[in-house]
Amino acid sequence: MADLEIRNLHAKVAGSDTEILRGLDLDVSAGEVHALMGPNGSGKSTLANVVMGNPVYEVTDGTITFMGEDITDASPDERARAGVFMAFQYPVSVPGVTVTKFLRTVMNAHRESRGEEAISLKDFRQTVEAAMALTKVPKEFSSRYLNEGFSGGEKKRMEILQMALQEPRIAVLDETDSGLDIDALQTVAEGVNAVAGEKGDQMGILIITHYQRILSLVKPTHVHVLYKGRIVKEGGAELVTMLEEKGYGWIEEEAGATA
Ligand SMILES: Nc1ncnc2c1ncn2[C@@H]1O[C@H](COP(=O)(O)OP(=O)(O)OP(=O)(O)O)[C@@H](O)[C@H]1O
Ligand SMILES: [Mg+2]
Repeated sequence: MADLEIRNLHAKVAGSDTEILRGLDLDVSAGEVHALMGPNGSGKSTLANVVMGNPVYEVTDGTITFMGEDITDASPDERARAGVFMAFQYPVSVPGVTVTKFLRTVMNAHRESRGEEAISLKDFRQTVEAAMALTKVPKEFSSRYLNEGFSGGEKKRMEILQMALQEPRIAVLDETDSGLDIDALQTVAEGVNAVAGEKGDQMGILIITHYQRILSLVKPTHVHVLYKGRIVKEGGAELVTMLEEKGYGWIEEEAGATA
């Protein structure tokens, strides 16, 4: 059984009639890197949000199972504590909360859910310093307010730092590469690889992207193409090259022929 098992998932915006996800199946396990691609509006961010339990969306059919437990109706907090992590396409800023305070709160929440004691200040400093070095987040960021005035690339790096500290079983990264310059992309990819490498087969990644570039740095073991709320094509890294060359037109034709 996969760590994250999504079966026949149907979802819509709560209160609306239009289905966005229309029978989606996906398996992600620790040790694997899955890339989710697909045209604008195909439902990628919706899937990420539904996996995290964002109440904006309503699951109308199907199930999400995580580590053998049905989490289809679990709260976002329960999912995060169980070990699902999500980096958002548009990270929000939290005025008045410093990076250090935020990271410590998050870490302690996770420790508490594992039945561990709150981390000592000394251990916290050491852990954060190591994680900051791993993800190349500059030291002076620790005293700034979370994401306030951060550039796009800085926000993305902060998320990878958060991921390093949270030690999730499955991490969902939604367009972690959007708006990054080439150096920042390299840094973020290195950060993801460093965290994934350190966790070995303890962490699985679902990376949502439009571009080949990040996938040449963070190499996917599985590639899925989402089209109109369903996965219509699956393969290995070669699929990324094919999409980069041919776009989505042929996928639409193939999917149209079987719809
Ligand atoms: N909260 C919402 N309210 C209304 N419509 C929504 C909402 N969330 C998603 N949708 C609609 O659902 C469809 C899928 O959106 P989603 O953001 O999941 O696409 P995406 O695949 O992530 O696209 P992109 O590649 O542009 O990020 C779109 O038509 C979008 O307008
Ligand atoms: Mg999106």
